[in-house]
Amino acid sequence: MAVNSHPLVRVFPGSRCSLLLVMWGLLGCIIMFYFYSTIQHQSKGERQIGLNYLAMTRELEEVEEEYFHFPSPRGKRSPRAFKRRGPRKPPSVIDEFLDESSDLRPFFFPDHKTAIDPRKDDDVNRYLYPGRLWLDTEGNPIQAHGGGILFDERKETFYWYGENKDGPTYHAHSKGAARVDIIGVSCYSSKDLWTWRNEGVVLPGEETNLTHDLHRTNVLERPKVIYNDKTDRYVMWMHIDDVNYTKASVGVAVSDSPTGPFEYLYSKRPHGFESRDMTIFKDNDGKAYLIYSSEDNSELHIGPLTDDYLDLTNEMRRILVGQHREAPALFKYQGTYYMITSGCTGWAPNRALAHAAESIMGPWETMGNPCVGGNKIFRMTTFFSQSTFVVPLPGLPGSFIFMADRWNPSELRDSRYVWLPLRVGGVADEPLEYNFGFPLWSRVSIYWHRKWRLPDGWRNVQT
Ligand code: GAL
Repeated sequence: MAVNSHPLVRVFPGSRCSLLLVMWGLLGCIIMFYFYSTIQHQSKGERQIGLNYLAMTRELEEVEEEYFHFPSPRGKRSPRAFKRRGPRKPPSVIDEFLDESSDLRPFFFPDHKTAIDPRKDDDVNRYLYPGRLWLDTEGNPIQAHGGGILFDERKETFYWYGENKDGPTYHAHSKGAARVDIIGVSCYSSKDLWTWRNEGVVLPGEETNLTHDLHRTNVLERPKVIYNDKTDRYVMWMHIDDVNYTKASVGVAVSDSPTGPFEYLYSKRPHGFESRDMTIFKDNDGKAYLIYSSEDNSELHIGPLTDDYLDLTNEMRRILVGQHREAPALFKYQGTYYMITSGCTGWAPNRALAHAAESIMGPWETMGNPCVGGNKIFRMTTFFSQSTFVVPLPGLPGSFIFMADRWNPSELRDSRYVWLPLRVGGVADEPLEYNFGFPLWSRVSIYWHRKWRLPDGWRNVQT
């Protein structure tokens, strides 16, 4: 007997089952089609973002050659001098670089006419020119040497802190290094890492109290600032020394605002050891670390700060022992820690090295010279500069800015900034000390560019 007597649809018990099956099948098809088109759409979008990202970073990784003609030795040598000392040896490039009267001087320290100037209309492209003078929004040369950058997420602003060296250069005694009296720590703010507004001296030197760490006759170098989320305060660590670099200590200052004023708290020898060139690093978990050159600069030490970042804990590890490295600049990418350091040759430039570690407390392994392009002399002298900081670029994972100082020891206030793109990727190119197998880490590359800029929209790119 028929169950349904509708004239058009006569459904029998067996066929009801197959109708249900057809309907479920249709529904399944619709769902699959929906998922397929969504995935297609998504991967098209991802491909597009990926391509944009690749196009952006390709420009940063272009290898640029650099040529310069070496001037022939100046002046003639008298026959007597020739007999005594033989023919004049060509000066080394480093000598030439350090010689104020060298013909190559304008090549290393281009004059004011070529300055990077945010007030000029033709600078809309925001090009960076490593080594050129860099002016702030008021037209004055930026004074932030041995510096570092803090990105304040709440204010979406970059703050650049560094040594203000805008005073006369002199030697305190014949064997002493060239120096400038302490003026203080300058701060500049920016939204684009190119236009910098002077926020003033946020930690000034001390004029009268001779016993104060910051008395102008002492040394204040390499200030770095991090933000403490728990205390809502900005904490500055810096190298504090006397004129002969025998105090070898770290100093700590604190402020409620990134633009100061910073209150100077104290100095000490970390873990009881000498500390000269140094930096601090804040990890993603909020834990922060001090890294400093110690034991006559023959090794680096690393140790965690206390939760308020105002002091050190007792934990310390010796790293890169016997390698004589200084000017450490630390950064992290995809869970691995990286560091760039320089050799120890005072204000004279030398070869940079890149190091990597799986745990920040070590062991750290040395991977080789990260400098790419320019020419051999450029690569052997870190492009005539010394590392100070590595800035992560929010929105461009794997891309960083390598910040370095091109010191001018005859006129320290005229020292220049060498900022270049740094990328992490590819295979490390030198064998590792502890690991005789394949290198575990990616290569770190710093690409020479005479002129470069951050890709358009770099702040908003997602991958
Ligand atoms: C460098 C150091 C600078 C400064 C200089 C003084 O080795 O990195 O920060 O201390 O020596 O000669």
